[in-house]
Amino acid sequence: MTTAAPSVQTRELSAAPDWWRQAVVYQVYPRSFADTDGDGLGDIRGITSRVPYLAELGVDAIWLSPFYPSDLADGGYDVADYRDVDPRLGTLADMDELIAQLHAHGIRVVVDIVPNHTSDKHAWFQEALAAGRGSAARGRYIFREGTGPDGAEPPTDWVSVFGGAGWERVEDGQWYFHNFDVSQPDLDWTNPEVRADFVKTLRFWSDRGVDGFRIDVAHMLTKDLTEPLPSQAELDAMPQDGNHPLIDRDDVHEVYAEWRAVFNSYDPPRTAVAEAWVHPSRVPLYASIESLGQAFNFDLLEADFDAGQFRRIVADNLELAAQSGSSTTWVLSNHDVVRHATRYGLPDAERGDDGRPTRKHGNEWLLSGGRTPVLDTARGERRARAAALFVLGLPGSAYLYQGEELGLHEVAEIPDEQRQDPTFFRSPGVDLGRDGCRVPLPWSDEGPAFGFGSAGAHLPQPEWFGAYAVDRQDGEPASTLSLYRSALDLRHALQTDEQLQWVEVDRDDVVAFARPNGWTVVTNFGTEPVALPAGEVLLSSTELEGDVLAGETTVWLRRA
Ligand code: GLC
Repeated sequence: MTTAAPSVQTRELSAAPDWWRQAVVYQVYPRSFADTDGDGLGDIRGITSRVPYLAELGVDAIWLSPFYPSDLADGGYDVADYRDVDPRLGTLADMDELIAQLHAHGIRVVVDIVPNHTSDKHAWFQEALAAGRGSAARGRYIFREGTGPDGAEPPTDWVSVFGGAGWERVEDGQWYFHNFDVSQPDLDWTNPEVRADFVKTLRFWSDRGVDGFRIDVAHMLTKDLTEPLPSQAELDAMPQDGNHPLIDRDDVHEVYAEWRAVFNSYDPPRTAVAEAWVHPSRVPLYASIESLGQAFNFDLLEADFDAGQFRRIVADNLELAAQSGSSTTWVLSNHDVVRHATRYGLPDAERGDDGRPTRKHGNEWLLSGGRTPVLDTARGERRARAAALFVLGLPGSAYLYQGEELGLHEVAEIPDEQRQDPTFFRSPGVDLGRDGCRVPLPWSDEGPAFGFGSAGAHLPQPEWFGAYAVDRQDGEPASTLSLYRSALDLRHALQTDEQLQWVEVDRDDVVAFARPNGWTVVTNFGTEPVALPAGEVLLSSTELEGDVLAGETTVWLRRA
């Protein structure tokens, strides 16, 4: 199936200012990557120790989820200090060393910026609590008086994205707004001090050699809080057209225009990618070069393994990228969703008339702790390999999530008392949360914590993790790890900025496209074999037999 062993030589750091346009970016979730000090939490030195692995995998950049001082109330997305490293994860010197090692291996570094909210342990929020109502310190956040007798009721009935009320009362009776967990108070982006501080943070990391930023919930920072505040029902009924009081406001791009000037003051210019869950027609605003420059496209996270859905998503997003002038992005998994090897082994999502899923993929299976007999693990992996080769063959930037290169499945069987995700605690019994995709990686099939660290893992690893360990897959031509290594190696030689052309095939469940240089990608989403198109086979997601492309398989060809 896979071709020759990948070349292991280190690539030079690309000097091109647009290195990001066709980059393969690998997301590292630092707490769960590799632990060198034996406390059960992954750390910065752990990542440094695995730089050769990342180089051999062939990624162009890594994106680090937050590693800043944090209570870990939301896995680090509750930041207590934006310009430091959590002492449990290391020091600023460790970060400098990691950046140097990555650069020496030709790998760029993107860090996560969380500007919508701080942690309640952030010095600003502590100061706001101590300073009392009406103070400048409270003016950095969204504090309001309550309603009802003695202001004992919240200012509005707004709900948090994580479930439950969106307002929390403090000791002196005022309330503060939090879009997410109660430990994540929202900042007030009309406050000039807030704006200035984030510019300082962007410069701090840029000066240390960081190449780009992933912007957390980029569509939520600015708000129109003119009184009287609307109710939740009124908010829900309002169009999200740039004037909604809380979501995807046009004025958020004033913030990003200021950031753009900061990015462009560096050589090469620093990059950014927006996490913006907005209507597709509004994605180009974030991806424009006057704003953040690139935006995530999450459509594949919600899609079934289905030819029609995949083809439509590709066509739509290439069109959106053309509108913004950016390159598009492809994401099959990240730290917020059920891993795609598992999604593809579960029944298709139930969808409403608009095609959107009406129920979270795999939730019942998760809620049962993985005991319901619906998951077909082998099928999920087979489809995941086919989907990965499909996506890696597209023009644009591909974001990989740690462990997908191992074909890793979601871990459903985490006991309730060991769960950490606030979405689990804020919606008991309804949403099991995101811990199942954040379980520390298996590096070896024996030894403590499957090679993650010497003293266990902060989320329990199941027995079956051993079969997916890096050392079990390393050098095995049929392994998912070998497939990813070969694919990334070939992609470096073949990838261009040029667009694709659809190749029409006589089957609804087969999608094929070709690039101007002859690189052709064919995916059979169905289960019936199809005749293999002419051309030299470069790579296949499952073993090819004769001149047919088996079901649930992608092949890369060079057109004859
Ligand atoms: C983003 C992150 C998610 C986090 C949330 C709040 O969606 O990806 O993990 O919980 O923002 O910061």
